[in-house]
Amino acid sequence: MLKIEGISKRFGGLVAVNQVSLAVKEGEIFGLIGPNGAGKTTFFNMLTGIYKPNEGTIVFEQQQVQGVKPFRIAKLGISRTFQNIRLLKDESVLENVMVGMFGKTHTGLWSAILGLGSAKKEEELVKEESRKILELVGLAGLEDELAGSLSYGNQRRVEIARALVSKPKLLLLDEPTAGMNADETNEIGELIRKIRKNGTTVILIEHNVGWVMGLCDRIAVFDHGEKIADDEPEKIIANPAVIEAYIGKEDTEEVNKFAAN
Ligand SMILES: Nc1ncnc2c1ncn2[C@@H]1O[C@H](COP(=O)(O)OP(=O)(O)OP(=O)(O)O)[C@@H](O)[C@H]1O
Ligand SMILES: [Mg+2]
Repeated sequence: MLKIEGISKRFGGLVAVNQVSLAVKEGEIFGLIGPNGAGKTTFFNMLTGIYKPNEGTIVFEQQQVQGVKPFRIAKLGISRTFQNIRLLKDESVLENVMVGMFGKTHTGLWSAILGLGSAKKEEELVKEESRKILELVGLAGLEDELAGSLSYGNQRRVEIARALVSKPKLLLLDEPTAGMNADETNEIGELIRKIRKNGTTVILIEHNVGWVMGLCDRIAVFDHGEKIADDEPEKIIANPAVIEAYIGKEDTEEVNKFAAN
């Protein structure tokens, strides 16, 4: 579904992502791990058109998308959440989710402004779809609350709902469980499995190694902008280069903890 070959992103003299190649199959839950500053978010930013790679190609369903504008990539069916929650905190939960359909609706701006029938009807459809997605992510009943009044964990769910409402083929989650407790984290795992079952392929960035091992079909490890491993979870956990990069070879207690995961 997604085939990336040799993409790099440089910021001045800093090489944030260095010639990374990677392939994701339809229906996979694919994990991306690595230390802080390894280039994971930058990689997502290239996949979603926020950054144009300095070199390399990104092919999504037979189409080259490197350097393509974000809204066009969204239209092709790639959707994402952000590492830092980006909600309209003073708007309702429902409105925050409806925003995710912007760009996908067909009615023109003028009919929306003039309140013509087709725009009204379309808004109703978007509302209905947004409610369904809110139910899927476990937020039924909270539609009319202000997004900013929800718990941190639930705000992350709103972000996921907003990314899902356009029915993406590929969903990119940047640290979906950051700041969550163990129970909330496990619930997000269940939600991601449900999303995959509904036909969406998932790539997720995560720091919680134990959790990601149990969830993903395949995991790539980034370190200093390079992909140092790409394998099934059991093989990743046994890879010395990964342990060294991710934990630091000197701290044996940490290495043991990592291996125990
Ligand atoms: N717009 C930018 N301008 C300059 N440098 C940047 C920019 N975006 C990212 N970087 C740098 O690129 C490197 C990779 O950053 P990135 O955010 O991709 O890492 P990450 O793996 O997502 O880290 P974390 O786990 O902390 O989120 C870092 O050194 C970062 O400071
Ligand atoms: Mg990041």
